[in-house]
Amino acid sequence: MSQPAPSPSLRDLRPPQHQGMRNLDKSKFGLSVPVVTARIPAGSVGAVLKHPMLRGQLVDIAKVKSVLVNPDEPEARRVLLRVSDPTQLPKQTKEYLEGIGAQFGSYNIDLDYDYWSVHDVLTSILPNLDGEDPPSSFTQTGHLAHVNLRDEWLPYKHIIGQVIVDKVSSVTTVVNKLNSIHAQFRYFDMEVIAGKDDFVVSTHESGCSFTFDFSKVYWNSRLHTEHERLLSHFTPGQVVADAMAGVGPFAVPAAKKGAYVLANDLNPESVKWMRENQARNKVEPRLRITEDDARAFIRRAPLEAWTKPFTRSEAVRNRAWEKAQRAARVQAKKEKEERESAGLPELVKEEEKEEPAAPQTIDHYVMNLPDSALEFLDAYMGSFTPLLSQPGYDRTTPLPLIHVHCFTRELEPETASADICERATGYLGHSVSPDMDDFHLHAVRRVAPNKDMYCLTFRLPEAVAYA
Ligand SMILES: C[S@@+](CC[C@H](N)C(=O)[O-])C[C@H]1O[C@@H](n2cnc3c(N)ncnc32)[C@H](O)[C@@H]1O
Repeated sequence: MSQPAPSPSLRDLRPPQHQGMRNLDKSKFGLSVPVVTARIPAGSVGAVLKHPMLRGQLVDIAKVKSVLVNPDEPEARRVLLRVSDPTQLPKQTKEYLEGIGAQFGSYNIDLDYDYWSVHDVLTSILPNLDGEDPPSSFTQTGHLAHVNLRDEWLPYKHIIGQVIVDKVSSVTTVVNKLNSIHAQFRYFDMEVIAGKDDFVVSTHESGCSFTFDFSKVYWNSRLHTEHERLLSHFTPGQVVADAMAGVGPFAVPAAKKGAYVLANDLNPESVKWMRENQARNKVEPRLRITEDDARAFIRRAPLEAWTKPFTRSEAVRNRAWEKAQRAARVQAKKEKEERESAGLPELVKEEEKEEPAAPQTIDHYVMNLPDSALEFLDAYMGSFTPLLSQPGYDRTTPLPLIHVHCFTRELEPETASADICERATGYLGHSVSPDMDDFHLHAVRRVAPNKDMYCLTFRLPEAVAYA
């Protein structure tokens, strides 16, 4: 069967063009699309719609119904066909419809501003700059959408923001990220281009909820895979030390998972919101937060974990332990019932097992400040030496894995590895190479055309730890 000639405007459905519009006039986006209707008995609608002769001939526009119901004509329905004149229907389709007594008529599908997508409206409004797509993509964090507009789009920033607020019901603020970034705390300067002046957002990641002021702390939703990846390496009961923890995307879920977490950030705003997230996610007992320079934190964390361990009264119970206890109670109940029904006497109860004491040595260090984290590796030199004089400390205890994020401009895996190892070696004061224990170099993402982000993992060498 030949393809129908669709209604001309259905072939390329887009709103009227208003290139250069600066003040949004929603009334200018109406579009009337003439189509043919086939009036058929209400009872045969199901069969007609499924009939092979109608395949590909019905109006198929998102949010537009393809069958019209008129309350004054309950016995009939009008099916919308995707042509503007019955003569444009394929011969067999037309004959089939005539054969079942269908009466052809006409109808206008009226589309308005609400119908069009962000991309449709922006394509209609914005000038065509060398065939470039309009900046209709944005990243959303909670109620806030952020765009990063190039200079040529700036005259249209408010209308771009307004269209996003109008079209995306969960967005109430749109900001344009400016190209300046806070050198130390890594958050962007931004300006509101539409909606409310409200930067405090709430979002979810790794099974936790996070609330923070987007204009004062670092947050990047694109890192969620990297957050999940490292989190998968932490097991309940391990001790994790996050030196540059931000608002807690590693620290809070790690604590929720049952790890004991020492988390630190130098930005007082990050610390404030990390505390908020600690409370919201009910992980107070397993997460300790400090506001220090990462170098000082790295150096004092081993002794702190040893001399101020997470105690049972502080940590209460970790999840794995709780689960084991629940399973033991269920099993005991089952055994008791079985003995009762067999007429056997009740067994003397065993003491409920105590939760094992929380470990006191650090298993993982996380350092996610890719711009300069490698420079902080010098802080590990001798950082475990104070433990050697602590009663009970065993020098053969495994040393922690260091997960340090960094950037490189070397885009090939081998040259990137060589570059990162060379710089890490310089700062650590000890050779860092793929021959090391637990060495792993993970490509996180391309952050710019000529810049990649990696996570380097290696086990802290004894020669450094006890230097
Ligand atoms: C790229 S952000 C990463 C935050 C968090 N780990 C994440 O994944 O979202 C780096 C963090 O390091 C913090 N920071 C910068 N310099 C620091 C320093 N000298 N000591 C401790 N934290 C620092 C910043 O405030 C920021 O929160």
